[in-house]
Amino acid sequence: MDVPLTAKHHLLVRLAHWLNIPLLLGLTLSGISVYWASPVFKPFPPWVYERFSLGTFDLARALRLHWFFAYWFMLNGLIYAIGLVAGGGWRDLLPRRHDLRDAWAMIRFYAGFVPMKLRRKPWPHPVVTSKYNALQRAGYLSMPLAGLASIASGWAMHKPVQLGWLERLFLSYDGARVVHFFLMWVFLFFVVPHVVLVVADGWDTFRSMVTGWSERTHG
Ligand code: HEM
Repeated sequence: MDVPLTAKHHLLVRLAHWLNIPLLLGLTLSGISVYWASPVFKPFPPWVYERFSLGTFDLARALRLHWFFAYWFMLNGLIYAIGLVAGGGWRDLLPRRHDLRDAWAMIRFYAGFVPMKLRRKPWPHPVVTSKYNALQRAGYLSMPLAGLASIASGWAMHKPVQLGWLERLFLSYDGARVVHFFLMWVFLFFVVPHVVLVVADGWDTFRSMVTGWSERTHG
């Protein structure tokens, strides 16, 4: 019997989604190189910076690369935004009234999943009647917001005189620097559980981000 298919992700959303992986990798590696050329503080031993960057003490090359990836990242954000509007996906990212309660139910579900499996006790998934559960929604919405904040803090550092108002939005030059650096961690910390959950959720979810369609009506 034929399984009915649901359109899930617009082509431009999918394109932008997958492009984010090389772009964020390039931004992170070149960004660490920029930082390493003039480190404010060095919480890790030098070998960390030497291995997890595109090179040390080479500011000009690191900045050139960082801007190369940054322009593509901004363009990619635009592609994603167009895809969200064209496919109506933006509605699925907006917070809903019972999100706090529903997010808590998801956290409880994930926390109890392994212990309950080990005890062979039933542990049903909370009922989800929308495209994303409340935790997914918050996580997915945080990504474009983090992208916008990275771009804004980046420009604030790049043009602190011409874009003085933007610099003041982050209180100071150092404020923009801290926010920019912090956002790198936000992206990195998002990706790890994101990929684990995608793998745990199975083939249909992964395939939906490649082909755009899903065999499921929700989630
Ligand atoms: C190997 C790495 C990755 C894999 C396998 C992966 C996989 C997926 C899959 C399968 C979905 C669809 C979820 C669903 O339909 O329920 C998704 C959605 C999403 N992913 Fe990833 N992803 C990866 C990396 C990233 C990265 C680096 C970002 C950071 C920007 C990201 C941000 C998002 C966002 C924002 C969505 C929701 C898109 C929307 O509906 O507008 N992903 N991902």
